[in-house]
Amino acid sequence: MTKGDWFVVKNGYVKDKMQDNRLEAVSHPYWLYHFLRDLEDILTTVADDRPRLQAICPLVSELLNNSPLLQLATLEPDPNTGWEVLILYDEPLFPLTVQLVSWAPGAMSSIHNHGTWGIVALMDGQEENTFWQRSPTPACPDRVVPAGKHRLVAGDILCLMPDVIHQVTAIGGRPTLSFNLYGETDYDQRFEFDPVGGTAKPF
Ligand SMILES: [Fe+2]
Repeated sequence: MTKGDWFVVKNGYVKDKMQDNRLEAVSHPYWLYHFLRDLEDILTTVADDRPRLQAICPLVSELLNNSPLLQLATLEPDPNTGWEVLILYDEPLFPLTVQLVSWAPGAMSSIHNHGTWGIVALMDGQEENTFWQRSPTPACPDRVVPAGKHRLVAGDILCLMPDVIHQVTAIGGRPTLSFNLYGETDYDQRFEFDPVGGTAKPF
C-alpha cells in the first residue's frame, strides 16, 4: 500500500495527495494572459492548421508546467452527466476557446469532430481516444469506421486536426482533468456520428 496524505472530495473520488505545495514548482509563472497573447501572435502569423498546432503545442506544455492557474485547477464531473466543462477563456471575435474538462471514470463521449483544430492536454487520470474515419457508402454517406486508439496519461498532449473524428473514454479509477484549446468552430462541419446507423447530426 502506498503511504500518503489522501484527499477525498464529496463524490468519493480520491486525489493523490493534498498537493498544497503545487505552486512551489512554479519558478517562472506563465500567466494565462501571456499564453493568450502568444497564441494571438501565432494565429496572426501562421495560417495553416498543422504548423499552427506545432507552434502552439510547446506553449501548452509550458503552460501545464508553469501556470499557477492550472497548477491549482480542480474540476469534478457532474454525477448526473458524467462530465463537466469550465470555460477559462471564450471571448467574441477572439478565434479560440480555452476550457477545462473532466470525465467520470468509465464515462464515454459521443463520436464527434470539432469543426476546428484542437489541443487536449491531460492533467489527471487516463483517457482512451478512439479515432474514427469516414467510410461512406451510397446509402450511408456519413458512415464511419474505427481507425485506431491512443491512450493519454497525465502530461500527454494530443493535437487534433479539424477533420479528426474521435471518441473519448475515461479509463482508470479516477476522473480525468484536461486542458482543452480549440480554434474557431465551423458549426456547419461539426457532427456527432452514429456508426450503427451510418448517420451524422450537427452538435
Ligand atoms: Fe472531442
